[in-house]
Amino acid sequence: MATLRLGDMAPDFTAQTTEGPLQFHDWLGDSWGVLFSHPADFTPVCTTELGTVAHYLPEFTKRNTKVIALSIDGLSSHYEWIKDINETQHTTVNFPIIADEDKKIALLYDMLHPNASENFTVRSVFVIGPDKKVKLTLTYPASTGRNFDELLRVIDSLQLTAQYSVATPANWKDGERVVITPAVKDEDIAAKFPKGFERIKPYLRMTPQPNK
Ligand code: BEZ
Repeated sequence: MATLRLGDMAPDFTAQTTEGPLQFHDWLGDSWGVLFSHPADFTPVCTTELGTVAHYLPEFTKRNTKVIALSIDGLSSHYEWIKDINETQHTTVNFPIIADEDKKIALLYDMLHPNASENFTVRSVFVIGPDKKVKLTLTYPASTGRNFDELLRVIDSLQLTAQYSVATPANWKDGERVVITPAVKDEDIAAKFPKGFERIKPYLRMTPQPNK
């Protein structure tokens, strides 16, 4: 499978998971989704990552976003490891972890990077929209744990910009001013953005976040 690009359909698959078998697109339903791979069970960074996702699950749910993890270890390994995650990260892992022992999904989503590791999936992240299209991809090396605050921030931006003709500037956080997209003509701004705007340059027009 070629590398998945933004706007591509997220490939559908069936999977064995710690919460039972599922069909990916059916499981997503009308929600947003985060599919993320980790190198292996019983590894230190992954343990902290999955514990963090368990703590953050209410934040994902608030954003109508389902979360699913993947490694190429088996179900019995996942179940044993979850006990360790819950014990050491003081949480309850309550999202599915895919057991991709035959690497079918890892290959489908290009999560195996042989020049990085022959044996492990890299830390891939795919954010998938309710239309089942890929909205964001991230690839981290095994040695760097992901920042899940950043993932929530990007989901906030994706959901906002899907709804309004805006884009979010550098380091933007939910509630801050946003950029009006260049496609919007000056004369249409008043109707579209009743909270007002600042025209810093003809191409740089800021407005309060429209849905706040
Ligand atoms: C970890 O999750 O800690 C890890 C996994 C694979 C290689 C290095 C670190």
